[in-house]
Amino acid sequence: MKRIILFISLFAIFLTSCNQSTRKKATVEHEGKALFYRKCNVCHIDTRPTKEQAPYLLAPPIMGVMYHVKDGIKADNPADKRKKAIAFIMDYVHNPDSTKSLCEAHAIKRFGIMPSLKASTTQEEIRLIANYLYDNFPPADLDHEGMEKEMH
Ligand code: HEC
Repeated sequence: MKRIILFISLFAIFLTSCNQSTRKKATVEHEGKALFYRKCNVCHIDTRPTKEQAPYLLAPPIMGVMYHVKDGIKADNPADKRKKAIAFIMDYVHNPDSTKSLCEAHAIKRFGIMPSLKASTTQEEIRLIANYLYDNFPPADLDHEGMEKEMH
């Protein structure tokens, strides 16, 4: 009998801990998304620009940014690539610099270098944003060349 109770208790603890970790992941995703819309979306739109929007953009659309970040970062395996991409974004948002840029030169020529957001974001906030961006952009069906043609 004691064994059965022990088994049931352990199983209950196991179930609760699984549930907590999924919940934690969902919260992190939610926080990263909310922060993106608060701190980045004013310049980086989250859609492919229409022809009418293209001349008025303040910065490259976030799907283009993430396309270049993922394309430019070299790593041996997916976990390493993710880690390096997140580290790149955390550094770039506080210390933007044309020598570090992974975007094409015409992006900087058109928009200028991104201003540092050191004063308005913490590294922890950028880490949450970068995780959200890495998981959600660019969309799998992005026609990057077509988008670039329309923008430049
Ligand atoms: C005031 C406008 C503005 C805001 C706000 C802004 N950015 Fe940018 N960002 C730019 C511009 C302009 C560029 C293109 C020039 C460049 O790459 O520096 C850019 C480029 C980038 C790049 C590509 C860097 C490269 O060149 O390889 C990343 C990554 C990035 N932004 C992330 C973010 C994140 C994350 C946020 C929110 C925390 C954010 N940006 C908020 C203007 C902005």
